[in-house]
Amino acid sequence: MFIHQHHLRHLLRPEHYTAAEQYRAELRHLFLPAWHPVAVVDQLAKPGDFVSLDLLETPILIRNFDGQLRAFLNVCPHRHSRLTDEPCGNTERLRCRYHGWEFREDGRTGKIPDAPAFRPWDRENSCLRPFAVGTCGDLVFVRLSDTGVSLDDWLAPVRGHWESYGGAYRHAATWEKEFPCNWKVVLENSLESYHIPEVHPKTFKEYPPAENAWHELAERFSSFKTVPPLDFASRAMNWMVRRLGVPVTNEYWHRVLHPHATGSSLDIFRMMQCVFPTGPTTCRYRCILFTLRGTRRGPVAWVLGRFLKWIATRIAVQVFDEDGTIYRGVQRGLEASPFPGVIGTREERVHAFQRYVLDHTRGPSELPLAEKLSG
Ligand code: FES
Ligand SMILES: [Fe+2]
Repeated sequence: MFIHQHHLRHLLRPEHYTAAEQYRAELRHLFLPAWHPVAVVDQLAKPGDFVSLDLLETPILIRNFDGQLRAFLNVCPHRHSRLTDEPCGNTERLRCRYHGWEFREDGRTGKIPDAPAFRPWDRENSCLRPFAVGTCGDLVFVRLSDTGVSLDDWLAPVRGHWESYGGAYRHAATWEKEFPCNWKVVLENSLESYHIPEVHPKTFKEYPPAENAWHELAERFSSFKTVPPLDFASRAMNWMVRRLGVPVTNEYWHRVLHPHATGSSLDIFRMMQCVFPTGPTTCRYRCILFTLRGTRRGPVAWVLGRFLKWIATRIAVQVFDEDGTIYRGVQRGLEASPFPGVIGTREERVHAFQRYVLDHTRGPSELPLAEKLSG
């Protein structure tokens, strides 16, 4: 059951997937105000645990200070070194790797080697740059802009669902890959089931009939729900879900929170996938997978939990790799395409996403290209 009865206009032109001006406009208007899922609570469970990563041209570091999570720019105010190059670890103090300046949880300096050499002290220019950080379930989110809506408000359309990432679901795996395509190529692919027969002939095999596909379209998000056929694999899965003490819904959901975060779920897993632009025609796609651990304990629950972690991770990586075979060809096609493109009813979530991108990047004077293209 789709919402539209007729095909839709492909609102974005090929230039929207290649132009540097569009990329800069998206960074500024779509990504800076957004909250980004960057880690899981497990990675930062103990005081001193930290993770560091590059996020939208910005090196960031998130660290546990005596139970409080803090996020900072991973750049030292002394002479600009990255504080650390390690992707994760645990240190007694937050200390710059170059000359050993130490920093406290509020970003101010702690111990400084040979401190008298810096008299008089320039307090204003010696603090780390902080970023807003928060959690939903076991997911850790960061926002890069100083101002913007709270994490609760940002996640409002999906929070009830994404809070279940944790609890009965445990972190199973995180992986990411760089792709030679605009980030919207990856995101749009995730918003439609139309490509299943060609791209996933062995895993998903075929898309559900229209009467078993429900879409919800809104300004900031869209969703897709289907009920998988009750074949042998589904029955076995449902048995395991019940055995682990969790009610069976037998529903598959895919939700996107514009611009770039998607959550998908079956009763046996929860998966957060987020695509980050790294340039006009390159991106990084990150997956954070949680699998059912259930509410029961004991040897049978332990074995089932391990099995679900193994099988769900294996299938998720396979599907990720299958989709990964498509992106480069789409990008190369976009760069040579004379066509406006067209969107079918099964792809109507792509249309809603394109509407969002256009509505938020059409600046009156600062974005001449986006303005010109979208008219
Ligand atoms: S650059 Fe960090 S202490 Fe010198
Ligand atoms: Fe796919």
